[in-house]
Amino acid sequence: MDRRQYILALDQGTTSSRAIVFDRSGKAVSTVQKEFKQHYPQPGWVEHDPEEIWESQCMAAARAIEAAGLGAQDIAAIGITNQRETVVVWDKATGKPIHPAIVWQDRRTADLCGRLKEEGCSKVIRKKTGLLLDPYFSGTKIHWILENIGGIRERAERGEVLFGTIDSWLIWKLTGGKAHVTDVSNASRTLLFNIHSLEWDRELLGLLYIPEAMLPIVKSSSEIFGYTEEGPLPHGIPIAGVAGDQQAALFGQACFKKGMAKNTYGTGCFLLMNTGALPIQSQHKLLTTIAWRIGNRTEYALEGSVFIGGAVIQWLRDELQIISSAQECNELATTVKDSNGLFLVPAFTGLGAPHWDPQARGTAIGITRGTNRAHLCRAALESIGFQVADLVRAQMEDSGLPLAQLRVDGGASRSDPLLQFQADLLQSEVVRPKCVETTALGAAYLAGLAVGYWGDMGEIYNNWAEADHFQPNRSAEEIQPLLDSWNDAVSRSLGWKH
Ligand code: G3P
Repeated sequence: MDRRQYILALDQGTTSSRAIVFDRSGKAVSTVQKEFKQHYPQPGWVEHDPEEIWESQCMAAARAIEAAGLGAQDIAAIGITNQRETVVVWDKATGKPIHPAIVWQDRRTADLCGRLKEEGCSKVIRKKTGLLLDPYFSGTKIHWILENIGGIRERAERGEVLFGTIDSWLIWKLTGGKAHVTDVSNASRTLLFNIHSLEWDRELLGLLYIPEAMLPIVKSSSEIFGYTEEGPLPHGIPIAGVAGDQQAALFGQACFKKGMAKNTYGTGCFLLMNTGALPIQSQHKLLTTIAWRIGNRTEYALEGSVFIGGAVIQWLRDELQIISSAQECNELATTVKDSNGLFLVPAFTGLGAPHWDPQARGTAIGITRGTNRAHLCRAALESIGFQVADLVRAQMEDSGLPLAQLRVDGGASRSDPLLQFQADLLQSEVVRPKCVETTALGAAYLAGLAVGYWGDMGEIYNNWAEADHFQPNRSAEEIQPLLDSWNDAVSRSLGWKH
């Protein structure tokens, strides 16, 4: 009998590396998390040390296996999920990074994006990649490294220097340099990958002047990528599932049918809706992205993000210092029946979809002498709900699909008042699952499917279980005036250039 009863998921995020061991029921048996350092060498720049990412991920993985009391013979496969878009470039011969990782949040290529827009490149990029011309994505970051590190371009052209998103980097290290690969969901965030033909696109590589020889081979999201050969993990374990973290969460939430959607309420929010085998071109500046590819079926998603989600609560805690914890914010928010006419638009770093306005700034409007900190807490929580509702509306209009239910995860999804308000705004059910480790679980599922640990997606669909659900308890007529006031508040925060 095959003793391999567990799947190990590596969840390499923006601020920490996590490792979780899952059993067949999708239950997390052990979880280990290791934070690592953020580097801000200049305003707007964000970097990570790829070696520290590797070491922190190894340590988390080894400890998770140990904490579960397991050995090599117990792990059927490894799944990897990761912060997306972040760029690592390394030397093929030595395996050493030639520059710190440039993180997805990094804005150093804003001018380059502006120039490319002026040259009229937006349309072709949107059509082929489903993305917008924005420094967020990997392509202009790779270009920056090739332009700014002496002699690198020539070496990249000879294939001596390699590019990868974090999944590629980890697989390269885990396989002892045997596999230079990625999956379609990560490739679809680079600005270089044609999401229709599923290939690196020569025209886009030409636009950004990036040699194809440095790019990884693109695989599906559920197949064998390589076997562990290096590092503290037992050798010979197949790495069998890979997906970017937001796509992995969509998978972990079992949103397998067209129109099913999940929202992750983290520092920011990421809302993804499965649109099936059809990539839908958004009319509301949402991103079209590959959700996953399994066998020969590719599924697509529409994605929208909120830049300041849970971060607005951190702002109340750390900058205004009117609460000491997120829990206190929740408690205060429920001591009042509403925000007393206060609307807070947390456009601290501009607004994302459907506005994409980098000039927008935070706005609080409707303040009276009766406004107190409970109202401010309530308005802050509601601002998260309003922003997500704006994205859901855009998704429904783009896709023509109604939203029957929103599945939620992430830190701020612990807030009952937020989820109740979300259900009221959406006039749809909002559901929190039993397993909130949906990102890691999604990667585990993709890996387990590839090695036959789970038989099919039907089995996974049935594994998903709800913990709590929130039904709308206000009518659409009651909600409409709130939406009108929110829209008014947003319009006042847009285009603030001062
Ligand atoms: O696109 C960026 C996203 O993948 C980052 O996710 O959870 O690491 O903040 P997270």
